[in-house]
Amino acid sequence: MNRYRIAPSILSADFARLGEEVRDVIAAGADWIHFDVMDNHYVPNLTFGPMVCAALRPHATVPIDVHLMVEPVDDLITAFAHAGADIITFHPEASRHIHRSLSLIKDLGKQAGLVLNPATSVQVLENVLDKLDIVLLMSVNPGFGGQAFIPQTLNKIRQTRALLDEYEASSGKRIALEVDGGIKADNISAVAAAGADIFVAGSAIFGNPDYKQSIGEMRRQLSSADTH
Ligand code: DX5
Ligand code: ZN
Repeated sequence: MNRYRIAPSILSADFARLGEEVRDVIAAGADWIHFDVMDNHYVPNLTFGPMVCAALRPHATVPIDVHLMVEPVDDLITAFAHAGADIITFHPEASRHIHRSLSLIKDLGKQAGLVLNPATSVQVLENVLDKLDIVLLMSVNPGFGGQAFIPQTLNKIRQTRALLDEYEASSGKRIALEVDGGIKADNISAVAAAGADIFVAGSAIFGNPDYKQSIGEMRRQLSSADTH
């Protein structure tokens, strides 16, 4: 059984051919499609909104993982739930009422998660574990693709994994751990060994025209890490 998931970020795809890019990367083995929503307010960049998600939905035969880098979050949570998102995550700094925003995602029938920036403490998770299906740790500062992995993230992955394992032992509920930013074939096994389940990769996948080769190499690295 393979618990690992590879989630290509279409932030690095060709925006002029997004439907085709989504189909191609799924055919190449993508487990999820990672959809980076930026508002030029919470982060200094602007991408796409719920209308683009709804347009891509028929092209995506795998879950759509919506990463909201927007402030405020609640109206867009509702819009993305209606646009066909399967997983919706947001940054706690961007919501006045984190518990309320998580409850909104759950009430809309979607998987819910918090995203922690490199400097955000893991403590923010403690009081809302029962609302979480997933935790997303940023291994770069949000806003752009193609940045270098921040090595300190490995400690934070271990720390978060320990918290989530402790919660699983007492509640029986497993919360998935996703890592986003600067992941490539040469560091994915270290990220997995630290405790991650889901790996977002933008430039490492879309930067090479052979998506199957890039995803295949990541999987090989993950399976060899698994046997250690
Ligand atoms: C950054 C985004 C990431 C980004 C990852 O704000 O959340 O998903 O696209 O891109 P790479 O893999 O190129 O670091
Ligand atoms: Zn992302």
